[in-house]
Amino acid sequence: MAQLRDGFQSRLGFVLAAAGAAVGLGNIWGFPTQAANHGGGAFLLVYFIVIFLLALPALYTELYLGHSAQANPVVALKKACAEQSAKMGAAAGYIGLSGAIVMLSFYSIVAGWMIAYSIEPIATFFGWQALAEFLNSDTMLRNFIFTPVILFFTALIILQGVKSGIETWSRRLMPMLLVLLVGLIVYIGTLEGAMAGFSAYLVPDFSQIRDPDLIIAAMGQAFFSLSLGVGCMMIYGSYLKPNENLPKLALSVALLDTSVAFLAGLLIIPAIFVAQQQGVEVFQDGKLIGEGRLIFAVLPELFATMGKIGLLVGFCFFVLMSIASITSTISSTEIPVAFLVENHQVSRSKATWLVTLVIFACSSLIILNFEWLFGLVIQLFTQYQLPLMGLFYFITVGWLWRRGNQLREVTSGFHYWFAQYVRFVCPVLMTAVFLNVAFG
Ligand code: ALA
Repeated sequence: MAQLRDGFQSRLGFVLAAAGAAVGLGNIWGFPTQAANHGGGAFLLVYFIVIFLLALPALYTELYLGHSAQANPVVALKKACAEQSAKMGAAAGYIGLSGAIVMLSFYSIVAGWMIAYSIEPIATFFGWQALAEFLNSDTMLRNFIFTPVILFFTALIILQGVKSGIETWSRRLMPMLLVLLVGLIVYIGTLEGAMAGFSAYLVPDFSQIRDPDLIIAAMGQAFFSLSLGVGCMMIYGSYLKPNENLPKLALSVALLDTSVAFLAGLLIIPAIFVAQQQGVEVFQDGKLIGEGRLIFAVLPELFATMGKIGLLVGFCFFVLMSIASITSTISSTEIPVAFLVENHQVSRSKATWLVTLVIFACSSLIILNFEWLFGLVIQLFTQYQLPLMGLFYFITVGWLWRRGNQLREVTSGFHYWFAQYVRFVCPVLMTAVFLNVAFG
């Protein structure tokens, strides 16, 4: 008898897992930084528009492709492109899968820093000064210790499968993340200087709204944040039961992801203003101090001004970041694991450890060549892979898959207009954004 494919047990489990894939360092670190540097509320407004005009349809197409095929992205894209060229579809699936490994190889390094920073307040509390300094130090040794830690935890969840691993852990971790986030907002919001931060974040500087940089930043942020273009949403969509309402689920995931990004802004931007009030230098030449230094220097300096309570705040903040990271690393790891299990009949445990080793090898390469490779990999991934794959998914769903009949069969109501929108408008918007990013 054919073995039943593992999958999500409940709709809520899916929404939390997919939102967990989406909510990550991109939301809590990337989004507030971009907002602070691009006119606060103006960025917020453009970001919401981009989410609804482009990222939400892209999320839907990814879910749709996976859901229809009930298989991993290589098989799903191969099937969808079968009439034109199954090889091209499979090649796109492999590109997505490699992208997931590339993404994991830099993301796990950063996620490892979050774990190190969450242990540091404990070490300081117990007076283990040498350990605390090591955890704060920017060293290769620290990377070689904490990158495998995050990969190991990710593997432990993946080993348990979709229902018992990914779904169960997403149900546990996502509520914790929300509680920590709201708790931190409430606490930081009571400190001196926070009000100025709230108004800088929420009151739009409309002079920046037509700045092409702002639109491109919002677009890149939206795609990265929703984990589009690598197949995370395709694989999660494939684990949904056959008769689910995809548009509604896509909307729930996008809303949850965007709400967390919005909430993260309510935490980080007031925190920056509180830090400034405490004499911490936070702006340089009118821009927020370099992205890395914001999280790893400005915020820890702020926590240090709070005395003992600062240790607890710092601990909660970096635990929040670690949770956000791990719910994202599990989704990307699932893509190559599912491919090995389904296409090569490798056992789930062998596939998990093999994929973990490959990611660790790639991360090690980046750690050893950090100065030039880290930024380059992130740039290639976010500027080329994500928009190009997004474009490919739109073209596949709108034109290639049964010669576009999949969508042309829809002839009335909102779905008709949505189908036309995905076929005609999204690819043009996506191309314009890509050209602007690549050559603008
Ligand atoms: N979507 C994940 C994030 O925003 C990758 O961090």
